[in-house]
Amino acid sequence: MPDRTIQLKIKRQDDQSASPYWQTFSIPYRPNMNVISCLQYIAAHPTTADGTETTPVVWDCSCLEEVCGACTMVINGEVRQSCSALVDRLLEEDDSIKLEPMTKFPVVRDLFVDRSRLFEDLKKTQGWVPIDGLYSLGPGPWESPAKQDTRYDLSRCMSCGCCLEVCPQYTRNNNFVGAAVISQVRYFNTHPIGANNAAERLNAMMEPGGISDCGNAQNCVKVCPKDIPLTESIADVGRMTTIHSIKQFFRGE
Ligand code: SF4
Ligand code: SF4
Ligand code: FES
Repeated sequence: MPDRTIQLKIKRQDDQSASPYWQTFSIPYRPNMNVISCLQYIAAHPTTADGTETTPVVWDCSCLEEVCGACTMVINGEVRQSCSALVDRLLEEDDSIKLEPMTKFPVVRDLFVDRSRLFEDLKKTQGWVPIDGLYSLGPGPWESPAKQDTRYDLSRCMSCGCCLEVCPQYTRNNNFVGAAVISQVRYFNTHPIGANNAAERLNAMMEPGGISDCGNAQNCVKVCPKDIPLTESIADVGRMTTIHSIKQFFRGE
């Protein structure tokens, strides 16, 4: 019996302005492979299924355990992490595997996209807790376990971009920040120290591209690999901005 092989169809693009093209690769099957291990095989054997020598396929990854978000791509039509996409499971859905880069970010090369817009939007909304030195600040304020649990869920965002890929409101031609950033505003505004900068974050949320651009289609929450309650975050930040703007009105700001 001939050795079993897997067919990988990959959408490639040589640089940001080049036209995309498809190549098919044939990989020897091994049990328990993930998509990254297929890409590693292609990197070591850059030859297409019809025997043509080509350049190795480029992709991004770091943690290999669904924590960094860097390896996110569209696999058999669904956006997900290639490190946790298991070949055996994919072959239950289809007899070949199709890989494409995410569509909402510019392609650097092949499956590697530039997620800078997401990180710039986190900067705009101050997605951090400010500290004013490297000395010990002592223990933080006491918080109920329930509040800690809620914030723990929000803290699991890895900026992968899955929620942006499926969001009809997040396009290459607008400046909507998307569900991940809105949820991080909730995360940092409900942090006892982060709350000191809540007003600045909410001001950013009230600008064009902020919370009012969300069409509430709720696609985002369905694809988040970390099960972050994104629609709850969107509703919560919506309430925060309403209260904030009423306060600003009465203060004459
Ligand atoms: S909210 Fe979820 S889907 Fe969106 S970037 Fe964060 S982890 Fe990814
Ligand atoms: S609710 Fe819909 S429009 Fe709003 S961020 Fe999620 S996917 Fe986008
Ligand atoms: S390599 Fe980090 S999430 Fe896949």
